[in-house]
Amino acid sequence: MSEPVAIRPAELDDAPDLARILVETNRATFHGLVPEKCLDFSIETSERNWHRTLKNGLSARQILHVAVSENDEILGYALAGGVTGRDDYPRELNVLMVATPWQRKGIGRKLVTHAARILHKQGVHAILVGVQIDNPNRAFYEHLGARHIGEKPLDWDGYMTTELLYGWDDITCLWSDTK
Ligand SMILES: CC(C)(COP(=O)(O)OP(=O)(O)OC[C@H]1O[C@@H](n2cnc3c(N)ncnc32)[C@H](O)[C@@H]1OP(=O)(O)O)[C@@H](O)C(=O)NCCC(=O)NCCS
Repeated sequence: MSEPVAIRPAELDDAPDLARILVETNRATFHGLVPEKCLDFSIETSERNWHRTLKNGLSARQILHVAVSENDEILGYALAGGVTGRDDYPRELNVLMVATPWQRKGIGRKLVTHAARILHKQGVHAILVGVQIDNPNRAFYEHLGARHIGEKPLDWDGYMTTELLYGWDDITCLWSDTK
């Protein structure tokens, strides 16, 4: 890690950065792997969506936290806590994004662990995350101790594909190892 990274709740003014990171990171991750129409989503549209989400407020169970540099530049973020409708994995890691230049510096792990600790304090022990099947970053979740627990169909803007489901049965494993 080249500089200290802190984590704080997202604020309304963060909407442009959340949108830019979402659109640019998705393009970098999926270009050549999925049809281009899936990646057409504009930064402006995404910004409007994030602005609305932040303005309306998240559900009481959800958290949206950003990882920031010392000068408050947003490097990545996690949206977590959405309800799954499953008894075995009641809550979800909804979105996890680290800006491409900041990947592989420990920020993704830090965001997941931070979110999991908050959910654990709410009494949550198991969470799941869905990963589009072509996303090579599914190995990140395996590396962090999640296991492949199933899959379901995914309609990504008309591209019929598959979402792999990964679950942590005991999220304390995220902070009980030495890292
Ligand atoms: C997936 C993502 C969140 C990982 O974040 P990151 O900050 O790059 O990951 P970290 O540096 O915290 O990595 C933590 C560990 O996982 C490993 N890891 C990270 N990405 C990996 C990958 N794609 N495959 C295998 N291992 C990976 C790291 O080597 C590291 O191992 P270590 O702690 O033993 O040294 C980030 O690459 C990203 O935002 N990608 C694009 C968006 C995306 O795919 N999001 C997830 C969609 S569900």
